[in-house]
Amino acid sequence: MKKNIKDDVKKVLITEDEIKEAVRRLAREIDEDQKNSEKELLLLGILKGSVVFMGDLMKELQTPVQIDFMKVSSYGASTVSSGELKITLDLLREDLPDYDVVIVEDIIDSGNTLSKLVPYLRGRGANNVRTCALLDKPARRKVPFAPDYTGFTVPDEFVIGYGLDYNERYRELPYIGVLKEEVYG
Ligand code: IMP
Ligand code: MG
Repeated sequence: MKKNIKDDVKKVLITEDEIKEAVRRLAREIDEDQKNSEKELLLLGILKGSVVFMGDLMKELQTPVQIDFMKVSSYGASTVSSGELKITLDLLREDLPDYDVVIVEDIIDSGNTLSKLVPYLRGRGANNVRTCALLDKPARRKVPFAPDYTGFTVPDEFVIGYGLDYNERYRELPYIGVLKEEVYG
């Protein structure tokens, strides 16, 4: 029989209901900010962690949206200059100036990824780039970065579920949880 991944969870940090409520609030904030914009909204999901969040967020928005995805990672974490952005799946479209871009991210940790990605997208012609993170872990910041929209601020613990993984597992959990210590061993 398939193992139950829920057995590996030490505690539920954020419940399904709490996530739903936060997603609705974030959608209302984004709708409000788009009210007077002439441009179309492009949600740009960062693979793979954002897919569950982005699917729910786009359903809650009243504003019509288009979606796209990028896959990026940052490495060389310790200083601003060494934290380089590595793009493993780039945007093919060249029409970014026509959109208001909201980057959708699962969690902000060091801040390296988004602090590099925002200027990269501006360099590609997007004049309005905002960021929406389901989770923010400010205790881990290495470079200053504040998202425009934040679901929850979380303590300095490794979290999984609702898109977030540990070694590619646990993304399908419907809530945000913390793993049991023995799973890391
Ligand atoms: P950073 O802000 O550049 O350090 O990158 C954040 C990325 O690190 C996220 O998109 C996740 O992929 C990953 N990450 C950071 N903290 C966690 C966590 O607690 N659980 C799962 N993934 C995490
Ligand atoms: Mg990620």
